Amino acid sequence: MSYQSEIEKRRTFAIISHPDAGKTTITEKVLLFGNALQIAGTIKGKKSGQHAKSDWMEMEKERGISVTTSVMQFPYKDHLVNLLDTPGHEDFSEDTYRTLTAVDSCLMVIDAAKGVEARTIKLMEVTRLRDTPIITFINKLDRDTRDPIDLLDEVEDILKIKCAPITWPIGMGKEFKGVYHLLRDETILYKSGQGHTIQAARSIKGLHNPDLDAAIGVYAEELRDMLELVRGASHEYDHEAFLAGELTPVFFGTALGNFGVDHMLDGLIKWAPKPQGREHDLGRVDSSDKSFSGFVFKIQANMDPKHRDRIAFCRVVSGKYEKGMKMHHSRIGKDVRVADAVTFFAGDRSLLIDAYAGDIIGLHNHGSIKIGDTFTSGEKYRFTGIPNFAPELFKRIRLRDPLKQKQLQKGLIQLSEEGAVQVFRPLQNNDLIVGAVGVLQFDVVVARLKAEYNVDAIYEGVAVATARWVYCDDARKLDEFRRKAEVNLALDGGDNLAYIAPTMVNLSLAQERHPDIEFKTTREH
Ligand code: G4P
Repeated sequence: MSYQSEIEKRRTFAIISHPDAGKTTITEKVLLFGNALQIAGTIKGKKSGQHAKSDWMEMEKERGISVTTSVMQFPYKDHLVNLLDTPGHEDFSEDTYRTLTAVDSCLMVIDAAKGVEARTIKLMEVTRLRDTPIITFINKLDRDTRDPIDLLDEVEDILKIKCAPITWPIGMGKEFKGVYHLLRDETILYKSGQGHTIQAARSIKGLHNPDLDAAIGVYAEELRDMLELVRGASHEYDHEAFLAGELTPVFFGTALGNFGVDHMLDGLIKWAPKPQGREHDLGRVDSSDKSFSGFVFKIQANMDPKHRDRIAFCRVVSGKYEKGMKMHHSRIGKDVRVADAVTFFAGDRSLLIDAYAGDIIGLHNHGSIKIGDTFTSGEKYRFTGIPNFAPELFKRIRLRDPLKQKQLQKGLIQLSEEGAVQVFRPLQNNDLIVGAVGVLQFDVVVARLKAEYNVDAIYEGVAVATARWVYCDDARKLDEFRRKAEVNLALDGGDNLAYIAPTMVNLSLAQERHPDIEFKTTREH
């Protein structure tokens, strides 16, 4: 197969949703279509007995949440789909944000009884940063739901994206009959209790087909009336608007009943963009460029206790990875030969032979790779746009055994390079302040410090309300600021200067007093 057709057939996406909307269930069904999943239900810690991986994964299991981001690849029809799982729990939003920089489209899942929920709003804001195309799946039609027209109105009003229904639901809850496919002009009938299989669903062509009346009775007339209304009130699918992130095709179904998920997948392979290029410091590279390039968006430690190591997740932006190839590690300016990159398969991993633009490869990391790092095989450049977010929660971390200060510092800096947490070292004292976006990160850090660095650490309260990275082009002004504000300045894990403010009022005063200094809530790697 030619290089170009390898690229054309790939789709790389992630699911965004509020917890409980059905992301895990949809992932399971999607993998069922791809035949990738051997044992249904091994994706989320809470359901799997056989995937006890490390102490900290034990913890996610106990809490019934998914902390890790995994990558799944599966064939669907004549395409190859990469699904990047994003942590469902709001505490791990930073990881989620960075994962969203590595995809070309997103599937937004909405619970039909609940509508647009808080976390979906936040995640949509993030997809807007790159105008990522969004496909929508409205889930749980086998339950009593809200009026579908209301739901679309809500998506349009709150998320500011136009909706183009591709399927339309018939009935709901116990009376859920199926969906009408507006583009195919056919009704696909739902049968309950078939969620574990790929259904050979019956479909009826045409809205005025007497078979339809025979199959769904009074619902047929209702559907015909409803569709007139829907066609008048909603948008038609517009490909350009979809690619610009301005319009979303909407599908209805039930993930649990495995109904509608295939319609959505058909839409994904047909409309979602093939692997896209990315901006770098010297310009832009397109996925059609045959020389290898990729960037690291996540680092994860001890994914498997059998291999106590850290894996850097690298999105291939252009070209092809081949076992044993040489690539340039741009930040450290060295060439490295990579023979042992891994691929991921619903939690398991295997040695990778080759990979193309759009794929995610796992690089073994012995400490030299950081989030945001670029690897290239041709021209040397660095990708931009992989953010760190200013933490909102802070604690001082202290050792039970004061002799292990070195290990503590090393552990924290490594965990911060992974993006598991952020660490701040004030200029004026020897405190170590841990900053997190979500409260659960604190527990993960202490558990991992103990398991991986053999340090026993505890937290204390600290008077820090927020942090900002500070920048100024004028070295003299920055120096003056450094002197005047030293009590509130700290270095983060990567030695970047940050202002740590005891209160929000203090921050605004500092901003007023130092108008030449930029106080930023994100920092690019
Ligand atoms: P999440 O990853 O987005 O958090 O959601 P998840 O798939 O875990 O789904 C949350 C709950 O909603 C689960 O039930 C799941 O079975 C249920 N669910 C998902 N899709 C559908 C659907 O189409 N219809 C109905 N009726 N339920 C659906 P749970 O009882 O919380 O979990 P579990 O005990 O089944 O694991």
